[in-house]
Amino acid sequence: MAHTSTLVTGGAGFVGSHLCERLLALGHRVTCLDNFATGRTENVAHLLDTDGFELVEADVTEPLPAADRVDLVLHLASPASPLDYAALPIETLRAGSLGTLNALGVARDHGARFVLASTSEVYGDPLVHPQPETYWGNTNPIGPRSVYDEAKRFAEAATVAHRRTHGLRTGIARIFNTFGPRMRPGDGLLRTIE
Ligand SMILES: NC(=O)c1ccc[n+]([C@@H]2O[C@H](COP(=O)([O-])OP(=O)(O)OC[C@H]3O[C@@H](n4cnc5c(N)ncnc54)[C@H](O)[C@@H]3O)[C@@H](O)[C@H]2O)c1
Repeated sequence: MAHTSTLVTGGAGFVGSHLCERLLALGHRVTCLDNFATGRTENVAHLLDTDGFELVEADVTEPLPAADRVDLVLHLASPASPLDYAALPIETLRAGSLGTLNALGVARDHGARFVLASTSEVYGDPLVHPQPETYWGNTNPIGPRSVYDEAKRFAEAATVAHRRTHGLRTGIARIFNTFGPRMRPGDGLLRTIE
């Protein structure tokens, strides 16, 4: 059977690099697209010689390089830690909006499945604990976290619109705080649970 060809945007980041590793182990061909805004080549350096792995330096908010075949798009590209999105507010809004539309466009062009890495931050300052998926959240569109929260809320809306309008096969993963090897020390993620 032919290998699944998977595009991982933000693949040189903390979560993305583990995902690239796992997908290669599962037999996927993996294109890791990253502009290294917050990610590092070191995160995927050990994969560079692996058969089926390709690292592409590109900004997901710009027109994306053409690909022969894409079966699955995993869209992770976005600053994610509070320190990063505070330092990169416009870039964060662009990654969630233009970047998501571009990644959805790739999935649509290739008839690929699309999965968005969303976040528990779409619930804002939740009034319900724990948050079920049916809870719509309590967000502040002009607060200090708004560039991230609203970008991800837009990204979710764009994903669902493509599903409803174009019949795209989509998924949304609302990731909660994740910890592990390759996190950058002092990247600010711990602040969200203080
Ligand atoms: N780590 C967590 O606890 C957590 C929680 C919820 C959601 N998420 C989501 O998971 C995804 C990955 O998060 P992470 O913790 O690995 O963060 P990270 O900063 O380590 O990884 C994000 C990657 O996206 C890349 N990127 C950013 N803007 C880009 C652009 N315009 N074009 C191309 N690449 C770009 C960065 O260079 C980086 O490699 C993000 O979408 C984030 O919102 C993470």
